[in-house]
Amino acid sequence: METEIAVCCRRLRLSRNIAEISGQVEADSHQEYLLKILKQEVAYRETTRKNRLVKQAGFYSLKTFDGYCFDEIRLPAELSVSDLKDAAFIEQQKNLIFYGNVGTGKTHLATAIGIEACNKGKAVRFFRTAALVNQLNDAQKRGELNKYLKQLSKIDLLICDEWGYVPLDRDGSKLLFQVISDCYEQRSVIITTNLEFSKWVNIFYDEQMTAAMIDRLVHHSYLLLFDGQSYRIKNSLMKGYA
Ligand SMILES: Nc1ncnc2c1ncn2[C@@H]1O[C@H](COP(=O)(O)OP(=O)(O)OP(=O)(O)O)[C@@H](O)[C@H]1O
Ligand SMILES: [Mg+2]
Repeated sequence: METEIAVCCRRLRLSRNIAEISGQVEADSHQEYLLKILKQEVAYRETTRKNRLVKQAGFYSLKTFDGYCFDEIRLPAELSVSDLKDAAFIEQQKNLIFYGNVGTGKTHLATAIGIEACNKGKAVRFFRTAALVNQLNDAQKRGELNKYLKQLSKIDLLICDEWGYVPLDRDGSKLLFQVISDCYEQRSVIITTNLEFSKWVNIFYDEQMTAAMIDRLVHHSYLLLFDGQSYRIKNSLMKGYA
């Protein structure tokens, strides 16, 4: 019987899960049984969808809000910790810019927000900025830049980690500018950086383009300042020796 159920499920595009649990679900009526099975199928689909979104996002590590300390992060007055945990800014196509020293939790927070966005069914992409630029360059060389940009245009949240950590060449800067311009008022961007705005021109060469990029990013964005000392140093084995 289970095999036949599995065949029907496949034809109806339902998960195999139904066949597997069909013999174990207990209920007092036929309707209750059906309801329980359907509810499990809904829950199963939601979980697989979330897992797929997290996988597609390409996070470097899977960090969450669990144990994350906000004490040394300065938030703008209009934004609360619970707003961040809700990832509500995505609905308004707002951006977040995380600025602060190394090891202060920028990547961790960007990842936790990204995972929450996936849990809400949003499409997210996490890139180290230099890797995004490499991909753009490669796509251009293959003559597939438009195709690649079109894929990026389907996402809800673009995370550019380590913005300005690696200098870009002129072409790379232009390509990144194009991506940021495309996102403007269409989808949210999170940028993590330890470079203040006045120094961005050093990595993007062209002053006008840098100004235009900052203008687009800063309009509709929240700036978060990471003031603390490096967690890596605080928690390293060298503690007590410094
Ligand atoms: N506020 C925090 N609460 C809990 N853990 C933290 C916090 N900040 C940093 N950490 C931990 O410290 C380590 C370094 O943090 P993270 O990589 O996010 O720093 P970063 O600001 O992105 O640094 P960099 O500029 O060098 O990329 C990680 O293991 C992270 O989980
Ligand atoms: Mg980082």
